[in-house]
Amino acid sequence: MTMPLGDIFRLDDRVALIAGGSGGIGSAMAEILGAAGASVSIAGRNADRAEAVAARVREAGAESLAVVADVNNPIECERMVAETLNRFGRLDIILNAVGGGAGTALYPAEQYPESEWDRIVDLNLRSTVQATQAAVKAMIAGKRGGRVLNISSVRGQLAINSGYSAYVAAKGAINALTRQWATEWAKYRITVNAIAPTFVDTPQVASLLADPDFKAKLLSRIPLNRVGETQDLAGAVLLFCSDASSYITGQILNIDGGLTATQ
Ligand SMILES: NC(=O)c1ccc[n+]([C@@H]2O[C@H](COP(=O)([O-])OP(=O)(O)OC[C@H]3O[C@@H](n4cnc5c(N)ncnc54)[C@H](OP(=O)(O)O)[C@@H]3O)[C@@H](O)[C@H]2O)c1
Repeated sequence: MTMPLGDIFRLDDRVALIAGGSGGIGSAMAEILGAAGASVSIAGRNADRAEAVAARVREAGAESLAVVADVNNPIECERMVAETLNRFGRLDIILNAVGGGAGTALYPAEQYPESEWDRIVDLNLRSTVQATQAAVKAMIAGKRGGRVLNISSVRGQLAINSGYSAYVAAKGAINALTRQWATEWAKYRITVNAIAPTFVDTPQVASLLADPDFKAKLLSRIPLNRVGETQDLAGAVLLFCSDASSYITGQILNIDGGLTATQ
């Protein structure tokens, strides 16, 4: 062993950029990475929301910067990375937490509207691709290796009979790119993994979870019989962002209370 086991999940001196760090999952991950010792850049389009999360991370004792950027714009992605490098001097981790919207775009597969397809695929896939490209260029230049962590969904591998075509296509592509990027970037010691949750109790899905029928149906499919909390993602996020996963790449880890085990 080259380091004490207790330190294997620590991120002291590491710099993380969270695209979508102001969101339900991204903000929780920002606090977790900060608590593990990382400095954290929080990126989103709304300045106040990003700054509120950065302030919480700072109050808890870590360095944090809010960056206003639209990750569907490649020039803004480059600026988002440049602002992070200017502030912290390096970039070690990109966590892609922009996405979602599945429940706002439910259409029969044979009639899926093109504009809605583009909206959902841009929100989930294009955002991940463009933020990652900008971040990985900086990691390659930094020559210290790196970590890419994508947020997929159980819908990246499971179909559902309720109009999710664009979302499953985008998350399935994220799973495929996780493997492809892992293969291409291994030579730079950059690992690429994804977590794939089912519903996590966050504002984006609050109205669905408030519907007792929907929730009862959901719970009947989850062996652990509860909805996930953002805290349930913490262990996997620390694993994939730290030295603990130095030999793990190209993997998609379902975090779903056993849902996919039953399919
Ligand atoms: N919540 C769940 O139950 C669940 C389950 C499985 C998978 N997931 C996945 O987890 C990820 C995060 O979900 P969430 O529930 O945390 O969503 P969320 O609360 O809506 O957060 C998304 C964040 O992304 C930012 N964002 C959106 N478009 C952006 C853009 N073009 N450029 C920069 N930032 C942008 C938003 O901030 P601004 O609006 O300020 O830009 C927001 O902070 C998604 O990929 C989702 O599919 C979620």
